[in-house]
Amino acid sequence: MSLKDQLIKDKLPKHIAIIMDGNGRWAKKQGTLRIFGHKSGVNGVRESSEACAEMGIEYLTLYAFSTENWNRPKLEVTALMELLIATINSEVDTLLKNNIRLNAIGQLNDLPKKAYRKLMEAIDKTKENNGLTLTLALSYSSKVEILNAVKSIANDCVKNKLNPEEITEKTLENYLFTADMPDPDLLIRTSGEQRISNFLLWQLAYSELYFTDVLWPDFNREELYKAIYNYQTRERRFGLTSDQLES
Ligand code: IPE
Ligand code: IPE
Ligand code: MG
Repeated sequence: MSLKDQLIKDKLPKHIAIIMDGNGRWAKKQGTLRIFGHKSGVNGVRESSEACAEMGIEYLTLYAFSTENWNRPKLEVTALMELLIATINSEVDTLLKNNIRLNAIGQLNDLPKKAYRKLMEAIDKTKENNGLTLTLALSYSSKVEILNAVKSIANDCVKNKLNPEEITEKTLENYLFTADMPDPDLLIRTSGEQRISNFLLWQLAYSELYFTDVLWPDFNREELYKAIYNYQTRERRFGLTSDQLES
């Protein structure tokens, strides 16, 4: 029996988040330039989104570019932005075919104009799709996201739109990019690194973490099934005891 068939249908994660890491090391191993690693990483994006769509997973959030990544060599940053545009161009039809709705989070205004426009066009083209929501985190920093939420909340308090006494976790969540999404159930990071790198700090509070040594360009459906299989062996206790969960 294939691994996919062994997955428990009613215990699938609703939301999977992935830190797609290891493109540079993959390229180095092949003796090519880092950008070829990024180009080969597009396969992983296609495979994981198609697989999630097929399984009926509702949300897939991919960390594609962090605010810290702007500090990479200019040549690499430019190539990544070109790749973003090319990928949107080549993949929109696949998104439409698979009923996938595209979404993006991050400091999107910092993207080059052309990339920003392409992204918005693709989001608009896929907005009626009601299968998987595929969110790209671009120019994303979780600390900046939380900081901006706090600033907006403070502003609304000053304008008497919000009473400080009534601020709850839900209030803050409503000010985050992810306001209309459930928190990730499962976070996957490839390439063997075991850190969060400023991704979804608030939203990952209770996610199950899965780290694999596979480099992102080698990540495929089978690797995704492995991660979900592993997730399904976990007991998510949310602070309770095992006995409490059973009763
Ligand atoms: C992840 O791969 C892609 C981005 C951060 C854009 P890296 O480019 O970080 O690859 P490594 O970590 O150097 O191998
Ligand atoms: C995190 O990967 C960002 C993305 C995957 C887009 P990095 O490779 O930039 O993170 P660090 O530097 O290893 O923490
Ligand atoms: Mg990296």
